[in-house]
Amino acid sequence: MKRILSGVQATGKIHIGNYFGAIKQFVDLGKDNDAYYMIADLHSITTVQDKEELKENIFDVALDYLALGIDPEKSVIFRQSQIPAHTDLTWIFNCITTMPYLMRAHAFKDAEAKAKEVNVGLFDYPVLMASDILLYSPDLVPVGKDQKQHVEYARDIAEKFNRIYGDTFKLPEEYILQDVAIVAGIDGRKMSKSYGNHIPLFAERNEIEKLVMSIVTDSKTPEETKSTEGDTLFTLHSLVSDKETLDKVRTGYENGGLGYGETKKMLVESMDSFIAPLREKRRELVKDRDYVLGVLEEGANKARNVARLKMQEVKEKIGLILE
Ligand code: ADP
Ligand code: TRP
Repeated sequence: MKRILSGVQATGKIHIGNYFGAIKQFVDLGKDNDAYYMIADLHSITTVQDKEELKENIFDVALDYLALGIDPEKSVIFRQSQIPAHTDLTWIFNCITTMPYLMRAHAFKDAEAKAKEVNVGLFDYPVLMASDILLYSPDLVPVGKDQKQHVEYARDIAEKFNRIYGDTFKLPEEYILQDVAIVAGIDGRKMSKSYGNHIPLFAERNEIEKLVMSIVTDSKTPEETKSTEGDTLFTLHSLVSDKETLDKVRTGYENGGLGYGETKKMLVESMDSFIAPLREKRRELVKDRDYVLGVLEEGANKARNVARLKMQEVKEKIGLILE
């Protein structure tokens, strides 16, 4: 049994890329490990500053976790904002982290390049995430590829703390599945909410149809042979289709005879079959708000105990506890 920790920001509806790139690993790893899955609601307020929107987003992540099959009997599901140790530790880490080091973070550089006004919270994002991780001493941190740097930051910060104050934090490792590392969106770029090219994970059939039919392809005729490599339609098929359908697409591409229109129609069917049970489960959960809130409360109690112990150790190490 390994200790697993990960989290998702509460910033809107999740999509196929989030699922295959990150959350599916949470579900799989949660089955026979000691897993902690967080809703990173304090990270969300670096960007979401509307009260109702934030509340809805937080609840949405809880629904997503549960609908996708994270079992609250086995894994701890909790909200970061309910555990004060996350922000306590962030302050302590802030005091051993330099500004030039944080200025090298991809997320910060991207925001700067877009001439966005960067708030201090956004600048400090990697430090809060390091606290999220290090409080729970995980063996593995399952994330999508774009979060690799953040886990590296957590490792660096842990090393620095250990160097200054003595061995305290376990060095975390990221866990990234290579073959689904980046899921492409309907325009062929990385699927992302911010590009507006995503297929929502709980989409209704008509929405799936509209999005899949608009996936960008080249202009090869059905008769021409096609490459499966890097082909958005084929990649999405490989994620949601059964073996028989996938073989049919592969043969049709390699030998010619299968057009993109037909491939898309098959993808709509596969994707809808894949999504329908998830959609159904989520609908059931929405009706039982008290159950979902109960899961979060219970999760917070368990997480708080782990975090509190680590915080006590940290305070002792740095001289904040007087005997
Ligand atoms: P978005 O880019 O849509 O805003 P987030 O940054 O909120 O997505 O990502 C949430 C999680 O899902 C992260 O672990 C991230 O690495 C993963 N993820 C997001 N988009 C993809 C993608 N297209 N392929 C694989 N993983 C992804
Ligand atoms: N930054 C992560 C993302 O955008 C979310 C996150 C916050 C996280 N804290 C974490 C992921 C701790 C793993 C571990 O997806």
